[in-house]
Amino acid sequence: MGFNTWNTFGEVFNEKMIMEIADAMADRGFRDAGYKYLVIDDNWNMEYRDPETDKMIPRPKKFPDSNIVPTFNYIHDKGLKVGIYSCAGVRTCACKMSSYDYEFLDANTFAEWGVDYLKHDFCLHPELGDGELLYRRMSLALRHCGRDILFNACNWGWDDVWSWARAIGVDTYRSTGDICDNFTSFKNIFQSQVMKLGSNAPGCFNDMDMMTVGMEGKGSNSALFEGTDGGSFGTEGTYRIQFCVWCMFQSPLIMGCDVRTVSDKYRDLLCNPDLIAINQDLEGRPAFPVSFDNNLVYCKLLADGTFALLFINADENERMLSCITHDIGYTVGSGYKIHMKDLLSGEEMVQGDFPVVTVPGRDCRIFKCKLVKD
Ligand code: GLA
Repeated sequence: MGFNTWNTFGEVFNEKMIMEIADAMADRGFRDAGYKYLVIDDNWNMEYRDPETDKMIPRPKKFPDSNIVPTFNYIHDKGLKVGIYSCAGVRTCACKMSSYDYEFLDANTFAEWGVDYLKHDFCLHPELGDGELLYRRMSLALRHCGRDILFNACNWGWDDVWSWARAIGVDTYRSTGDICDNFTSFKNIFQSQVMKLGSNAPGCFNDMDMMTVGMEGKGSNSALFEGTDGGSFGTEGTYRIQFCVWCMFQSPLIMGCDVRTVSDKYRDLLCNPDLIAINQDLEGRPAFPVSFDNNLVYCKLLADGTFALLFINADENERMLSCITHDIGYTVGSGYKIHMKDLLSGEEMVQGDFPVVTVPGRDCRIFKCKLVKD
């Protein structure tokens, strides 16, 4: 859980902004809700290496004297962890110096600077090369750098990443192309991952990209894709859908909105403890679809013996949504009923083999459920 600069700031940020973001994460409740990593994305470093040491060079206009360590110290002093960005190719996506061939030196440098998380992108890798091998290299380098650095393999789902990421030491892996701030984009992302969640388990999770919750059209990835989805951006209902799905699918919760200014309404959604508990559930069991209706009802078994049910209405108009709970394993003959608590409204109900719930247009409802004797 954390924040990443890319969605809102793109290539434009500096030390002062990063410090303000660290302040906001600590002062506005994000850190205490669990958002610990402050990740600085692409364009923090120069296009070349230090001629004497071969180390990467932080951009002096962003980090005075090309020294990024004071920024990292500031982040740590706020009780947060530091994330940095590099790439498996010869240049990063913004054409800055990348780690290809220098994995061990860069891992050691990041450790020396106090980095706790590495997002490792996939742009400009040799076309004839083996993508998996490039991630094996950085993984081994990180495991021998003397510091615990979480490894995010940002290879966009290429090369069947879910089939090898865990084995080679990846902690989280990006499974899709870049998200943008509209419903079509994030719906396509999560629907593409439904049948690939089986490899989610403690130690290695499918990362469906930084969330756009609360961006409301502000930010570099909104502008880039303006015009898709009829030019519309996320709404209160679709942001609720996004956050609930990211929790149900156990995607890393990396915020992409400007945490300094995002409204309290979205801050409260992003910090909802009941939803975060689903995302962080210790057993890490993948959600599975339980509907005959566009695969938009999902169930997730939880470590405390309960289960969560998410009903998504992708239509514009209010709808009654249902699922057949026999698909979860429930039987009427067991003598149980299903007690359902709406985690957003607090409403409680008791249902059986065919719960029907009313969901507003382009919105969702999420329930924590347990079996109870009549
Ligand atoms: C790729 C990644 C994004 C972001 C940019 C930075 O597109 O997928 O998340 O890191 O590069 O250039």
